[in-house]
Amino acid sequence: MTKIVDELIIDNHLKLRKLKNDDLENYFKVNTSDSAKKGFMAILSTLNGAREELSEIIAEYSSNEPNECGYAIEYRGEFAGVATLEGIGRKRFEHVANIAYSLLPKYMCKGIGTLAVRKLCDYGFETFPLTRIEATVATQNIASNKLLEKVGFVLEGMKRNSCNYQYLGLVDENIYALLKKEDDYKENI
Ligand SMILES: CC(C)(COP(=O)(O)OP(=O)(O)OC[C@H]1O[C@@H](n2cnc3c(N)ncnc32)[C@H](O)[C@@H]1OP(=O)(O)O)[C@@H](O)C(=O)NCCC(=O)NCCS
Repeated sequence: MTKIVDELIIDNHLKLRKLKNDDLENYFKVNTSDSAKKGFMAILSTLNGAREELSEIIAEYSSNEPNECGYAIEYRGEFAGVATLEGIGRKRFEHVANIAYSLLPKYMCKGIGTLAVRKLCDYGFETFPLTRIEATVATQNIASNKLLEKVGFVLEGMKRNSCNYQYLGLVDENIYALLKKEDDYKENI
């Protein structure tokens, strides 16, 4: 039985905390910003779609065997973004999860994404039977590629024309992974 903890403190100003229904407007914004349009394959188109997704994440908090572990990234008491481990607890694939993340534009380029992703990976490895966390990123998403490398993810390969992004069309995608057994983590992020 594994319950998702309420919050993960990173430092005095930064933490991950459970999402709540009141986050709806920000959850919608963070998934539909211009940067998100370049970063995600499919983009939410309605507030109702966002509400549904948010409810699904919140519902997982009361599960003894969650499939998803999603957090709000909170900076100085404000909603700054989201970070999610997806696919935890998949039968026969309990050892693998995918990570996704997005920030509101005003919080980008301050190191917040790197710290949040690292914290969520630490928590994921400590809490769930994971040995591998994966991320798939469009090759042109420089910020996300850099973030993963800073955390210690290893580039395993590139899939050509692998995804048809709603706003970019066909893109090549880099496949990254971080293994629990490897001491991949970089010291100075
Ligand atoms: C990807 C994302 C979370 C990065 O978060 P962030 O907090 O801005 O990133 P950080 O400040 O931790 O920076 C990580 C690295 O990327 C670089 N970087 C950040 N934004 C950049 C940009 N727009 N262009 C080029 N490099 C950028 C930083 O300089 C840093 O590298 P450095 O230490 O060598 O200087 C953020 O850009 C975002 O929310 N994008 C939209 C959603 C998205 O693409 N999600 C990922 C889908 S796979």
